[in-house]
Amino acid sequence: MNVRLIVLIFALINVNFVQSLRRRVVAARRGQVSNPDEKLTVPAIISRHGYICETHTVVSQGYMLQLHRIPHAKYDNAVPRKTALLQHGLFGNSAHWILNGPRNSLAYVLADAGYDVWMANIRGNRYSKGHAWLQKDSQQYWDFSWHEIAIHDMPAILDYIKGVKSDSEIAYVGHSMGSTILFAMLSSRPEYNSYLESGVALAPMAFIKDIESPIIWLSSTVETVAPVEMRHGRHEFRPAVSSYVSDFVEPCTPEHFRTSSCKDMLFSLCGANERQFNSTLLPVFVNHLDMSTSWKTLQHFAQELDNEGEFQLFDYGSSNRRIYGTRKPPKYDLSKIKVPLALFWGMNDYVSVENDVQKLYDKLKTPSKMYAVSDPEFSHLDFLWAKDADVLINNRVLVYLNDENKLDIDVTSLEW
Ligand SMILES: *[C@@H]1O[C@H](CO)[C@@H](O)[C@H](O)[C@H]1NC(C)=O
Repeated sequence: MNVRLIVLIFALINVNFVQSLRRRVVAARRGQVSNPDEKLTVPAIISRHGYICETHTVVSQGYMLQLHRIPHAKYDNAVPRKTALLQHGLFGNSAHWILNGPRNSLAYVLADAGYDVWMANIRGNRYSKGHAWLQKDSQQYWDFSWHEIAIHDMPAILDYIKGVKSDSEIAYVGHSMGSTILFAMLSSRPEYNSYLESGVALAPMAFIKDIESPIIWLSSTVETVAPVEMRHGRHEFRPAVSSYVSDFVEPCTPEHFRTSSCKDMLFSLCGANERQFNSTLLPVFVNHLDMSTSWKTLQHFAQELDNEGEFQLFDYGSSNRRIYGTRKPPKYDLSKIKVPLALFWGMNDYVSVENDVQKLYDKLKTPSKMYAVSDPEFSHLDFLWAKDADVLINNRVLVYLNDENKLDIDVTSLEW
């Protein structure tokens, strides 16, 4: 055989060998540094911690919405009478209620305190992507904002839970847009007030006049771009690939993840709190973000910003008359809300800020409480990931929910 051929074959084998060795070393090194929760699904993470997790599917307007349920405490398998429904915010999913681990995440805290815990996933997120007849890249699929979630999906979810547990009133907890959905539902479909025993809004979002997050710089772009994208382009907004923001969000994508730049970005958008920040948790958190939403959701927020931060229905322009019978979109009628509410806000939250929460509180006719989290640096994401989330927020939410007489307790002054 030709010597050169032998040398060549040898060289090729060697190159392959070296490459595969390198791949194995890299994989091993990755394996050592990464947390298993980065790649696991919500039910798998919950099971890993020794809790039961059920998945239920609720169909609403064809969207197949997945609910994750922790039906009972870790060491007591009788299904409790009390029921809690947790609703995540924008770019989130049910993971937001469990990633901070059993001690610090609200879902586990409620389960161990005797609640049957249900975590919803909004249409279009990774757990609720399915649709009975619409294509996932179609215009119709993405033709929704929080309003459609509030008037169709949340009622369907509540009906479903009532079907499983007819004897139980439900405590609703929403973070950020998860609270917007609650306010919009109770004012637009007031018959659902009777389903809920109480509501908790973490970083409440209704009025957004004084929002401090630089995210508002995008609002005029959104107003120009969204209608075009919704009609002709991608109806789905994905920050990681959208030319408007992709450079900015890149360090927080799993492929280009860099702890310090990702942290800086999230801090600049939502408020910074070094003391409560867990850098080990960040890559896990980022892997579970749902970096996708509808353009219409963004446009709905942008319209409100453009309108003195009013809490109002979607502005369809010249079609408003046909749809609403008025030239301008109606405001949500907050006086229809009858469920007792607690509004928890963070003093260093750039998104849900005191003046706006106060305005909401003043407009509510239902018995309500407004609580500032005692940490002066507490920000938008601390509700989900703070190192001391148990003492700062979760234990207090629990006291509020368990209190029969929702007006008597000042949960922020309790000592732990
Ligand atoms: C930080 O997050 C990691 C990963 O989730 C967790 O194991 C650790 O306990 C957290 N540290 C604190 C102080 O909460």
